[in-house]
Amino acid sequence: MIDEIRSMVSAAIGEGLEFSVERPKVAGRGQFSTNAAFAIAKRNGASPKDEAERLREKIIAVVPEEYFEKMEVAGGFINFWLSNKTINETFKKISSAGTTWGDSKKGAGQKVIVEYGSPNIGKPLHFGHLRSTIIGQALYNIYRSQGYRVVSWNHPGDWGKQFGIMIAAYKEKSLEGKVELSINEFLRLYVEYNARMKEDPRLEEIAREETRKLQSGDPENMRLWRKIYSLSMSEFARVAKRLGVRFDVSHGESFYKPFLKGIVDEALRRGLAVKSEGAIIIPLDEENLPPFVIQKSDEAYLYATTDIAAAKYRLEKYKADKILYVVGAEQYLHFEQLFAVLKKLGYLRDQELVHIKFGLVLGGDAKKLSTRAGKHISLSEVINEAVDKAGKVLEEKAPEIKGREKRRTAEIIGIDALKYNDLSQNRTSNILFDWEKMLSFEGNAAPYLLYTYARLRSILKKSKSAAKASRGFTTEAEKRAALKLSEFPEVLGRAADNCAPHYLAEYLYELSEAMNNFYHAEPVLTAEPEVRASRLALVRTASIVLEKGIKILGLETVERL
Ligand code: ARG
Repeated sequence: MIDEIRSMVSAAIGEGLEFSVERPKVAGRGQFSTNAAFAIAKRNGASPKDEAERLREKIIAVVPEEYFEKMEVAGGFINFWLSNKTINETFKKISSAGTTWGDSKKGAGQKVIVEYGSPNIGKPLHFGHLRSTIIGQALYNIYRSQGYRVVSWNHPGDWGKQFGIMIAAYKEKSLEGKVELSINEFLRLYVEYNARMKEDPRLEEIAREETRKLQSGDPENMRLWRKIYSLSMSEFARVAKRLGVRFDVSHGESFYKPFLKGIVDEALRRGLAVKSEGAIIIPLDEENLPPFVIQKSDEAYLYATTDIAAAKYRLEKYKADKILYVVGAEQYLHFEQLFAVLKKLGYLRDQELVHIKFGLVLGGDAKKLSTRAGKHISLSEVINEAVDKAGKVLEEKAPEIKGREKRRTAEIIGIDALKYNDLSQNRTSNILFDWEKMLSFEGNAAPYLLYTYARLRSILKKSKSAAKASRGFTTEAEKRAALKLSEFPEVLGRAADNCAPHYLAEYLYELSEAMNNFYHAEPVLTAEPEVRASRLALVRTASIVLEKGIKILGLETVERL
């Protein structure tokens, strides 16, 4: 829609000027607005207002008759209102596109790997991994809607010193053969030993030795590692499944072990890496970055080395055109170094690698929620709490929903609330965690979206059939809703281009508002047949777009609320 108007303005002013067309959020500024006259005024040294008047005439000369209802000059802006005819024709396109409305072929022939999740297994799952998982899954869905071939990729940390700690704790207690530990018991061992280790360097030494033994293939430690690995991975798989997340590929850091030596050797041979105090580093002076350490003085490889191998693998084996790393903002330096090194080594050419940063999760007191010495907020506990709280809200708001349906609905609302809270905030900022706001049926929160969707569905269910002929839209509330629907493809495009799911979240909220506003203002089921038919078509199409958008965000809908 907006592109259509942009090309009309463009046809009126000719090539070579930069301008934008927007959908103003403020009432009275038109359904669309352009700043093009400012660009002309700048070039001609004239007043924007005069240029806007002149441009308005030129646009009138190129647009089809009856396309706009009116065009107003306000300062240097030109504001547009579409005619009812244009709105109704546009709506016809949307409703016949149905579930394909919003899809694009922009990404055809391009492969994108989205890396997210990536927990450190053998350590308790923490909040940062929830953010990564939620944002990553949304980006995966958004990119797919734009026609890209997308691969979702999990890169769990399964090879770090946490295993040495756990093995040391396990051996210390001589638990071998006596009991079968669950993952939670292993994690408790880890947390407890880790806390004591901070005070006692001897314990740290023991853990380091266990890590070293593991990394050099000691069979006993390998066996313990495998056990912890599989317990941890199934725990993560359980949480991921509950969150509705799935990965096409999951390769832990240990997967890249066979490639590490080759990478270090090649970097040395080509003179890109040098020895420094026993370690091997890749200097990044020209890039104004600190050197990337790829091997420690005790010959151990690092997180960094693995990331070089993993990127090479994705670029060469999977032929990725683009890789998105959905990882907390605190790792920004690591990724800047990584991308610089990949270029130096020639593994990265014209493909695009992006660190999709996100901020911290802050509690109600605006302090970081995180794992602190022994005190840890487990992901499963957070999810359980969200679901419990959703159940309470449900008892109050929809007491008629009971039994199994209630449990299922609470599960969906609780998890959707967690996700939407995250996705509706700009991902780069720290996000606030406020249960009350998250579970609200009125404000910008998941339950409001789900409620709107269920309401639309219930109107449709009650409607049975509609008259064949419809009158088309004439009222403000109808037209506003129809225009909102026309915006969907633009929003998905913007969300993909900026890797910013919050554009989609914001849009779904606005669409919900427009629909609420519409069905409060206008009767649907009781309207006269031709009006009823057009309003039912609006409800149907809005329910399709709302459901599709909610699913792309990675949330689920319910039929009744
Ligand atoms: N496992 C890491 C962590 O929890 C995140 C991995 C990020 N991805 C990567 N390719 N380095 O901090």
